[in-house]
Amino acid sequence: MIEYTLIENKLEAKDFIKLKVAAGFRERPVELVKMALNNNLYDVVALVNDEVVGMGRLVGDGVMYWYLQEIVVLPEYQGNGIGTAIVNKLLKYVEEHTAEGDFTSVGLTAAEGKEGFYERFGFSKSRGMTKYIENK
Ligand SMILES: CC(C)(COP(=O)(O)OP(=O)(O)OC[C@H]1O[C@@H](n2cnc3c(N)ncnc32)[C@H](O)[C@@H]1OP(=O)(O)O)[C@@H](O)C(=O)NCCC(=O)NCCS
Repeated sequence: MIEYTLIENKLEAKDFIKLKVAAGFRERPVELVKMALNNNLYDVVALVNDEVVGMGRLVGDGVMYWYLQEIVVLPEYQGNGIGTAIVNKLLKYVEEHTAEGDFTSVGLTAAEGKEGFYERFGFSKSRGMTKYIENK
């Protein structure tokens, strides 16, 4: 098994873009990524020998509604438990910020074929809907 460390709130735009592109997602402008990451509630980065090989972030209102975004592990590091460790750390953060006697909702949109990965953490399919808006 590969040795890795998880660090909190250190996700940088250049690493975000690198991981997204490596996973096959569309590249986004760095300035927009920086603005978006400034609005993270919390993020986790996985490091191997100081290289960022995985990431995950939480967005939302920080009280009632949280969303997991960009859970990505570089292809060559997948299958080593890194994705699981990232999601567990993000969920632990939400648990710690859930008021006693109340509940919180954690949503996500699974990439095609990744539903099974998230079901392992207790996520279930809901009636969530998504609309993408392009400004050409
Ligand atoms: C999804 C992803 C983050 C998982 O990361 P990972 O580090 O490879 O995951 P882990 O090594 O922690 O795998 C945990 C377990 O989930 C399983 N798993 C991984 N992908 C799965 C899938 N699509 N469906 C079902 N199970 C899956 C693994 O087999 C593993 O099982 P095991 O513990 O019994 O061996 C990684 O595959 C990835 O980055 N994919 C590309 C980007 C992407 O699509 N992200 C999701 C966006 S919604």
